[in-house]
Amino acid sequence: MFAVPENTIALPETAGRLAKHPVRIALDYAVDRDRWRTSLRYDPDHRFATLIDRTDGDEVWLLSWLPGQHAVMHDHGDAVGAFTVVSGHLTESVTRRAPAGRVVTEVHNLAQGQSRVFGPGYAHEVRNDGPDPAISIHVYRAAGRTTRPVHVDPFTAEVRPT
Ligand SMILES: [Fe+2]
Repeated sequence: MFAVPENTIALPETAGRLAKHPVRIALDYAVDRDRWRTSLRYDPDHRFATLIDRTDGDEVWLLSWLPGQHAVMHDHGDAVGAFTVVSGHLTESVTRRAPAGRVVTEVHNLAQGQSRVFGPGYAHEVRNDGPDPAISIHVYRAAGRTTRPVHVDPFTAEVRPT
């Protein structure tokens, strides 16, 4: 073993305040209901979404999904982030090009505590196909909550705004 003198290590200016992973943030909010319980609504006409916190570069949103409510195929622009299911079930469909070049559509059935991450070029559909309402926490980093309806070419997986 050997010791590395401190002055030989170049630390980024952000050392000491490194950003938590968006999934970690979403999970933290998911279990801390006191931070958002008074903001929660269920809207039979529109899927409910509200901003519950904004930090250095991150937006944290609370969404509720009544049975049958859904988000059409969309991307999040330049944002990276994640969402976590707080209660109920959500179904996410992702169409993408697999490493071998084939276009595949993956369906992820998400239960309480499960998360998905997203970034530029990632398009998905999310819906509540279950019999019960669902709640989710979404974290958007770098670009805020940008939600653009998109079309995903079924043969090339190319994502285009609609
Ligand atoms: Fe999304």
